[in-house]
Amino acid sequence: MKITETKNGIFVLETKNYQYVIGAGELGIYHLHWGTPCPREDFEINELEEQNSNHSSLDFTPTEYAPYGGTIYREYALKCLFEDGCRDTVLKYKNSKITENTLELILNDDKYGLSVSLIYRLFEENDIIERYAVIRNQSKSKIILEKAASAEINLPGQRTYTVINSNGSWGGEFRKTEQKLETGTLSFESRKGTTGHNHLPALIAAEKPDEEYGEVYFAVLEWDGNYKISAERDFTGRTSAVIGLNDFDFSQTIECGKEFRTPSVFCGIAQGLGNMSRMMNRFAVSHILPKRFANETLPVLYNSWEATEFNVSEKGQLELAKTAAEIGCELFVMDDGWFSTRLSDNAGLGDWEVNRDKFPNGLKPLIDGVNALGMDFGIWVEPEMVNPRSELYEKHPDWTYNYETRTPSLLRHQLVLNMTKPEVKEYVFGFLDKLLSENNIKYIKWDMNRPFSETGTDNLENGKELWYRHSQAIYSIVDQLKEKHPDVQFEACASGGARTDLGSLSHFDMVWPSDNTDPVDRLDIQQGYSLLYPIKCMRAWVTDTNKTARPVSMAFRFAVSMQGSLSVGSDLTKLSKEEIEDCKKYIALYKKIRRTVQFGDLYRIMNYAEDKIYFNGYVNEDRSQAVYFACTGANSFFGNRFVNLKFKGLDENAVYTVKSEFRNYRKSGAYLMNKGIDIIYYKPLESEIFLLEKE
Ligand code: GLA
Repeated sequence: MKITETKNGIFVLETKNYQYVIGAGELGIYHLHWGTPCPREDFEINELEEQNSNHSSLDFTPTEYAPYGGTIYREYALKCLFEDGCRDTVLKYKNSKITENTLELILNDDKYGLSVSLIYRLFEENDIIERYAVIRNQSKSKIILEKAASAEINLPGQRTYTVINSNGSWGGEFRKTEQKLETGTLSFESRKGTTGHNHLPALIAAEKPDEEYGEVYFAVLEWDGNYKISAERDFTGRTSAVIGLNDFDFSQTIECGKEFRTPSVFCGIAQGLGNMSRMMNRFAVSHILPKRFANETLPVLYNSWEATEFNVSEKGQLELAKTAAEIGCELFVMDDGWFSTRLSDNAGLGDWEVNRDKFPNGLKPLIDGVNALGMDFGIWVEPEMVNPRSELYEKHPDWTYNYETRTPSLLRHQLVLNMTKPEVKEYVFGFLDKLLSENNIKYIKWDMNRPFSETGTDNLENGKELWYRHSQAIYSIVDQLKEKHPDVQFEACASGGARTDLGSLSHFDMVWPSDNTDPVDRLDIQQGYSLLYPIKCMRAWVTDTNKTARPVSMAFRFAVSMQGSLSVGSDLTKLSKEEIEDCKKYIALYKKIRRTVQFGDLYRIMNYAEDKIYFNGYVNEDRSQAVYFACTGANSFFGNRFVNLKFKGLDENAVYTVKSEFRNYRKSGAYLMNKGIDIIYYKPLESEIFLLEKE
């Protein structure tokens, strides 16, 4: 049995390696244990009653979903405003429902007809527990939620934890951080409408963070939009966190008889950060990504943005497409600039007709041309935006978020459409449906290039609902389009990686993790991305960025981009013959290892901060193929040249052929993993790709 009620009100949940124990008590739903399994019948509830009037038991009792009410002074999970003005919630455990892999705990505030179901769904094999809450209004009046988190997470013991997250920015997403949470609260959030570039919507904590060793506790939110993770260490030394929708400017009205379901959070324990990434990678592929393409490898893509920017034309794109096909690309994506008055980022968003100066005969000749070259065609859109310089804005200025009394702030000369209006949703769905119905388009790059501001709505009774409703509107449009056009893949982009999260990835098939395509910077960005997110979904372009300012070989550029979903964004008309040959060579090699990279287990073996070299390996399921990428850094310190590369994840009893451009060995898995190979790299920014095949 995976879920057992051992005594009245004590629930033991078991995944492959761990146990999670909950007890329904007087003060609420208590958290009793999360970790290595213990005999189920040993668990009991010990109510902690502190008699000192300054310290409420509610503040140091580990709970699963505490509401704001009574003597709670710490972060809570739920806050309600009832019709009579009462803001105090008292939830009492009522009963439970257990199915094969789901536990539902039902709590009621009888006085106000409020019912809260805490859901725990077990993914036994993945060692993951999904948690969310369903909040129901069974009264005859409205209930307003002022906070509705997904879960409280309690970390075991009373030791200091280090919290791992990122300190990102535009062009510098996913840069990993580690902060000791000695006391007080650490919080990571977004108030921008999307997840944003700054932080991971997740809690990752370990006593001593390490790639390989020690327990890592993690809880990852499935939401794209305003979120908040707040982790607190209390005066008793215990650490807990509340995770979910941000309560900043948040409010949701639940009408009588209706319910509100919070986003899910996926929780697990891993031995080392490397294991966490591998667990989450597998989990996302089997349970998060949209099913249609989840198990398919993604095509090698060409994107025109860095080559042409807004200066797209039928002739220019076809010229790029010809070389893209020649080097082995399978999908050609035309980026921004193809529609209405879009000559720069000043105008055009919202008017989605083809620009007839650039494409006199519409998109068909280009798409036919691309298809004739053996590639699929994809296109860029930014559906939830409008430039004031557009026909759409002239006709419908009230379709944007705004207050009549305020001047809307322009960012990148554009405004956010009020996606909570049915007519706006219909318009966005309509133009995309038309675009996909009239053209042989197999790929949509859905962009979103600014945060929200002046978030007034003239259509919502409860204006603060816009944050939640906006994200839901995007999800529902993408889902509807996918239903009607099942063979189209969707990429989520938001000025680079501002829409990278499990929420997006449960509707979109992949993401654009950063506008920064400098290969050296990318190594850090990709490393941070790989902590939680699936490798196959990480689009990685080989481009000309910084090619003159800091020359980096094509070999190095490919060695970086081949560690995700390989793509090309170089100006192919300007590449030398040798560079074109390099492109062909590496794309052909990528196709051989693509399944291993996109679906294999990633080992982050060495990183620049500690080892002065990046060394990452990808091993397929039966360990018959593995590919490792070594990339040296930008400096030329003498000592950094001598490296001992130890491979990981191999079958120690098997013999592998190890091939790179420079080397050829035949060695046992045991030797490669335990002794490793000694190498001297002579230059900064050198790279080497090792392909290992089991004999
Ligand atoms: C954003 C994206 C880029 C590109 C441009 C087009 O910045 O992140 O990849 O699509 O918009 O305007």
